Parts: sequence; structure tokens; C-alpha cells
Amino acid sequence: MHNQKIIIAVDGHSSCGKSTLSKQLASRLKYKYIDTGAMYRAVTLYALRNNLITSNEVEKHKLIRELENIEITFEYNPNSNNSDTFLNGENVENEIRRMQVSENVSHVATIKEVRQAMVILQQHMGVDGGIVMDGRDIGTVVFPQAELKVFLTASAQVRAKRRFDEMKEKGEEIPFETILKNVEKRDFIDSNREESPLLKAPDAIVLDNSNLTREQQLNQVLNWVTEILKNTNAKNDN
Ligand code: DC
Repeated sequence: MHNQKIIIAVDGHSSCGKSTLSKQLASRLKYKYIDTGAMYRAVTLYALRNNLITSNEVEKHKLIRELENIEITFEYNPNSNNSDTFLNGENVENEIRRMQVSENVSHVATIKEVRQAMVILQQHMGVDGGIVMDGRDIGTVVFPQAELKVFLTASAQVRAKRRFDEMKEKGEEIPFETILKNVEKRDFIDSNREESPLLKAPDAIVLDNSNLTREQQLNQVLNWVTEILKNTNAKNDN
């Protein structure tokens, strides 16, 4: 059958442009885009609002008990041409990008039960293929069968600078050094946690975009997609 829709897993470090790349891919291929980091961020926001995090300590057991009261959904926003993240029916797209959530999310993402709940949701979202999902464990845990796995990376300096510019644009002025430390700290926690650490899947392709424009990286990945679709269609025709 032609026009088969594949699963594209985009994993990699914080702030290396996974969501930019994934959104562009989804829009070009007319696929669904799911930002799994947003889901962990929404759980973190819920925990913060309900006083389940005090001085960077997560009240793990209470949060696990609350999981059944946390509903995370995505809704297309025609104004931004993106899908916004909803927490129990409330649009929290902006709030989950704030520094307080960024500072606590990697702790929440280490909790096994939180991860299990998110992975089940993510697998449901991808049952029909035609999806680009970005995160840390998509190619290893969520969709080990994904037809294309990209492991995106860039130097910590480049990533901190990008996030600095992004926040400045939104009117949140945070010193560059603070952002760099946050990026490095999150790299460390994400890569060293016990539960589904950030790991390159053996069959993932590494793409270092430190010196690539958005356009160059998009074209590179689109070439890989074309190649995969050609091979899949050829196999199906035989
Ligand atoms: O991609 P991001 O910066 O929005 O991710 C926020 C946090 O969530 C980050 O610390 C890593 C974690 N995360 C994860 O553990 N697994 C995922 N699939 C996605 C994000």
C-alpha cells in the first residue's frame, strides 16, 4: 500500500530544537505532533499548584495518588498553528514553559509511576502511525518499533543561547549563566536517572545541529523519511 504513514521518534537533550524540528516535520508530512515534554511539564505544574513540590522535593507518593486526577490533552490552536497543552481542561501552554516548571520537571520525570502513565497515553496517541513524537525515551521505550528514530543534539552553550533568546522574546529575562546551568543540570538528571534515562536507541540516527540551520536539519530528516517510505512501499509492493 502506498502513502503509508510512519512513526518518527525524535529524542535528544533539552533545548536542542526537538520540538521545532518535530513541528516542521509534522506540518510538511501532515502528521500529528506530540510534545511529550509538555506532558511531564503539565504534571509538574499540577504538583506545584497543589503544593506537592517544596524546595525542589517532590512528594512522590502523594503525586502518584493524584495521577488519576490529572488529565492531559492537546488541542489545535489555529492562531499559533500549534497544538496547545491542556491540564484538566485548562490551557496551560504558556505556564508550563516558565522557569519554575523547568526547574522541577526533571525530578517529576524520574518517577516511575508518572512515566508509566505518560507512556500509556503516548502509545495510544500513536496507534495509527502518522505521528512525530519528541521526548527522551520515544525511540527506546514508547515506540521501539518506530520506522525513523532521530537522536538530536547540540552543544550545551548553543542550546542555552537558543533558550535565552526564546525567553527574552517572551519577556522573561533570565541570566544566560542561569539558563546554561539549568540546561546542564537537566542533561545530567535526564541521562543518569534510573527510569528510562535519555539514551540513544541503537538504531537511531544522531543529528548534531550546532552548526545547522533549521532548514538544513529539516531537509536532512525529510530525505531520511523519503528513503524509508520508498523502501517500505517497495517492500509492500513485492
Ligand atoms: O523537552 P522538555 O524540555 O520540555 O522536557 C521537559 C522534561 O521532561 C525534561 O527534564 C525531560 C523530561 N522528559 C522525559 O523525561 N521524557 C520525555 N519523553 C520527555 C521529557
